[in-house]
Parts: sequence; structure tokens; C-alpha cells
Amino acid sequence: MKNMLITGGAGFIGSNFVRYMLKNNSEVCILNLDALTYAGSLKNLEDVPGAERHNFVQGDICDRSRLDSLMRQHEIDTIVHFAAESHVDRSILGPKQFIQTNIVGTFTLLEAAKSYWLQDRKLDGNQARFHHISTDEVYGSLAPNEPAFAETTPYQPNSPYAASKASSDHLVRAYHHTYGLPTTLTNCSNNYGPYQFPEKLIPLMILNALEGKPLPIYGDGHQIRDWLYVEDHCEAIELVLRQGQVGEEYNIGGDNQPTNLEIIQTLCSILDARFPDSPHTPHSKLIKYVTDRPGHDRRYAIDMRKIHNALGWQPRQALASGLEKTVDWYLANSKWVVEIHKQQQYNQWMQQNYADRP
Ligand code: NAD
Ligand code: TYD
Repeated sequence: MKNMLITGGAGFIGSNFVRYMLKNNSEVCILNLDALTYAGSLKNLEDVPGAERHNFVQGDICDRSRLDSLMRQHEIDTIVHFAAESHVDRSILGPKQFIQTNIVGTFTLLEAAKSYWLQDRKLDGNQARFHHISTDEVYGSLAPNEPAFAETTPYQPNSPYAASKASSDHLVRAYHHTYGLPTTLTNCSNNYGPYQFPEKLIPLMILNALEGKPLPIYGDGHQIRDWLYVEDHCEAIELVLRQGQVGEEYNIGGDNQPTNLEIIQTLCSILDARFPDSPHTPHSKLIKYVTDRPGHDRRYAIDMRKIHNALGWQPRQALASGLEKTVDWYLANSKWVVEIHKQQQYNQWMQQNYADRP
């Protein structure tokens, strides 16, 4: 793990991972390849520690010749693949880009890795690693009493986003099984924390509440997600890279089961405590029930026994204090927020997703 290619390293989890790796590993050099779509920003990478070991390149994972030359030029031995279209609501309104980036992009990256590692360099599982970042959403939706998602749970993706991620997971598995590409794969639950783009539930609710805007809850708000603080995710990925078994997949989660409504009420209480004199306090009065997401998954839950038993990993950050830290990060980084709020593209998305949602 010397020369690491990180794809999507200017997005939410990718930028946290770049920061985490540079801080905790003095030997690793990072080549960060990111197309800088609406979700990626160099502002997420300002002040990374060990910046001399971080090299950013703007580019598309679907560009095979670019991948080939970058892999050779930087003698890449490890790929950590985050780059994706990641928002379920966008996949419902415009699935095409999800097929392109998540499926064709992953395929292109796998081909480039196979060609450089297996054909040109004749490397084996101890000398190279392709780690694919995926989601628990590939498993579909759970009824209230169904057991949590284990690595053996059949895939049953429900949204175009989940289907595109499931497809990329299958390709990764096939490249290991058929060609012997040294792969590992992690399926993680919902992340939250610093630098999350404010189209996702937690940052959207924090920022809307601060401005006294409605807090749009889809449906009845009793959908359940498992929430993981992003730094815990980064730690789990590093552990899988170092000690995970080639060809294996590991489920990662935060070991909690709040409803969306509970998450929003907790965020409102945190803001009430921070701003007792705000005209918007109590912030929960801003809650507005809106038309549900089509095909909305009801419940996700993660069975983490495999990663815990095999690698000793478990989440460190409790949800309540993690949410406090996250609110405080958004409060302390209003300049970062303002830049996003200024983007026409962002405001168009808000209009497109929420205007016709009585
Ligand atoms: P994000 O949307 O914040 O970031 C995605 C990044 O990928 C952006 O920087 C974007 O510019 C880049 N990108 C998009 N298309 C690209 C392309 N064609 N070529 C190069 N770069 C491209 O996403 P995130 O929330 O950080 O998620 C990262 C990964 O983790 C994704 O694969 C996602 O499926 C997975 N994941 C996310 C969560 C979550 O809760 N956010 C949970 C589990 C798994
Ligand atoms: P999201 O952050 O989009 O993640 P995912 O769909 O990948 O789980 O949404 C988390 C949950 O919050 C999900 O059940 C949908 C719900 N949600 C709302 O109720 N209102 C919103 O405005 C958003 C963005 C999400």
C-alpha cells in the first residue's frame, strides 16, 4: 500500500478518507482522481495534512486511456474506488448518469487494473489491491422483524442507485473470480459527518433549520436507516485494506436504528440548545410531511459480525454525539456552505426535487 489511487476523493467520504490516510499513514502517496461533478469540490480538500503526498487530478473513471497512463505513471498498487453518483433521489429523476458512472465507470477501472497489474506487472494479491466501496442499499428493504443484512443476504436493489451499485459489486466479484484480480468490497450503511453535500438528509435538515426553511420529511418519517460517522467508515476501510481477505466482502454499520423522524428531532434539539433565542426555536415546528420518495426503502440494518470477528472492528462514535459534532462542523464552516448555496445547479436541484412535493 504505497501508491494509492483514490477515485472520488473530492466527494464526501472520499475526501474524509484522503484526510484520514494522510494523517494516519506517513508512507502512503495518494493520487486522487475525481471528475468534480456537482458533488465533488477541491474545497473539501483544503488543509489536508501531508499535502506533498497528495496529488489531485481532475478526470473521469470512464476514460480508459487516462486510467492506463495514470496507473503506469504513478505505479499504482492500491485502488480505493469511491467515485459514483450517490444520491437516490437523483437516480429516480435521472438514472442514466448512474448507469454510466457506477457501472461503466467501475467496469473501466476494473479493466485498467486487470491490464496493468495482471498483464503488465504480473502482480499478485499481496502486491496489489482493488477495494470497492459499496452500500447496504444493494440488499433492498427489511420488514420490522427481519434479520439485519449479512454478507450472505441476497441482493435485491430497489432504486436505480442501488441497482447500479449492485451491478458494480457483481462486476468486482466477477473480476476476482474469473481473472484473479485481488479485490475486497465493503457494503456500508448511511454515512454522516463533515463535508457531506447538503442534498442528503442530515446536512439538508441542519441547513434548512438554520435558515428557518421547512424540513421535508418523505412519507410518514418512520423509515429506518443505520447511521455511521464517516471517520469510523474510514477506519474500517483502512483495516480491510491491511487485513481483509482478498475476494471477501464486509458489511459496515453504526449499530443503530433510528427513524428519520427521530434523527430530525434530535438535530432540532441540538439547534434549540445552540440557539435558544432564535426565532426558529423550537426548530421542530419547521417539520413538514411531504410526498414520499417512490419505491422508498423502509428499513436498513447491518449485521456486523463478520468484520468484528475477523478484523476486530466496531464503530467508535455514538450517534447522539456524532450528530452534535456534525451540527457543530456545519456551524463552523458557513463559508463552505455558502459556496454550495450559491451554485445555480444546487438551487435547480432543490427546485426540481422539492417544488412539486406537497
Ligand atoms: P459523493 O456524491 O459525495 O461523492 C462522489 C464523488 O465522485 C464526487 O467527488 C464526484 O465528483 C466523483 N465522481 C462522480 N462521477 C465521477 C466520475 N465519472 N469520475 C470520477 N469521479 C467521479 O458520494 P459519497 O457519499 O462520498 O459516496 C462515496 C462512495 O461511497 C460511493 O461509491 C457511494 O455509493 C458509497 N457509499 C456512500 C454512502 C453514504 O452514506 N454517503 C454509504 C455507503 C456507501
Ligand atoms: P438520504 O440521505 O438521501 O440517504 P438514502 O436515501 O441513501 O438512505 O436519505 C436518508 C433518509 O431520509 C431516506 O429514508 C430518505 C429520507 N429523506 C427525507 O425524508 N427527506 C429528505 O429531504 C431527504 C433528502 C431524505
